[in-house]
Amino acid sequence: MIMRAIGIVGSPRKNGNVDTLVQTVLDGALDAGYQIAKYNLNEMKYSGCQACGYCKSHDHCRLDDDVSKLLKDIAEADAVIFGSPIYFYLFTGQFKLMEDRMYSLIDEQFSSRLRPGKKAIIVTSQGNPDLALFERAATDFAGILKVLGFDVKEIIRMEKGGAPDAVLERKDLLDKARSVGLAL
Ligand SMILES: Cc1cc2nc3c(=O)[nH]c(=O)nc-3n(C[C@H](O)[C@H](O)[C@H](O)COP(=O)(O)O)c2cc1C
Repeated sequence: MIMRAIGIVGSPRKNGNVDTLVQTVLDGALDAGYQIAKYNLNEMKYSGCQACGYCKSHDHCRLDDDVSKLLKDIAEADAVIFGSPIYFYLFTGQFKLMEDRMYSLIDEQFSSRLRPGKKAIIVTSQGNPDLALFERAATDFAGILKVLGFDVKEIIRMEKGGAPDAVLERKDLLDKARSVGLAL
């Protein structure tokens, strides 16, 4: 059976640091035999969660937009690479709107509807050179993924990412991203 890995990019900068790192993990996964796909949230049309509760009496979100398709793909994928830059200490708005829609992956008992053991990788980039800052954005999100039943394999964090192509000078991170993808 072919394994599927999908990447989700929460940065509006196409080919920026997060996009490149997510793509590099996906490239590694491709070499490991996965079928891959990538979603650039900024190019998609979707709403935030409407708190209508429909997903607690039905097994899916009532909204029908580009994130609905992504949620289905998350449910089917074996591995998901979640990527976002840090904007004002947190993940981007584009990412957070998608994250809230993941509420529909939890049933009325607050148990995950996802098959357990799905692999997750988190990728972040920040402008600040101090990597000790903003770690919480990634670890808090990892906590949500664990509630959803994901096995969070790795968190890849980049600092000094002000320039969109700064990652090209970071062979260490590119190598790490590739080997994380290969090891999926
Ligand atoms: C609106 C906005 C808010 C930002 N807030 C922060 C921040 O709080 N801390 C930080 O270190 N960098 C911050 N940055 C810088 C980005 O995190 C940084 O440029 C990152 O590497 C962008 O990733 P990308 O290349 O994938 O787009 C901010 C950038 C923008 C546009």
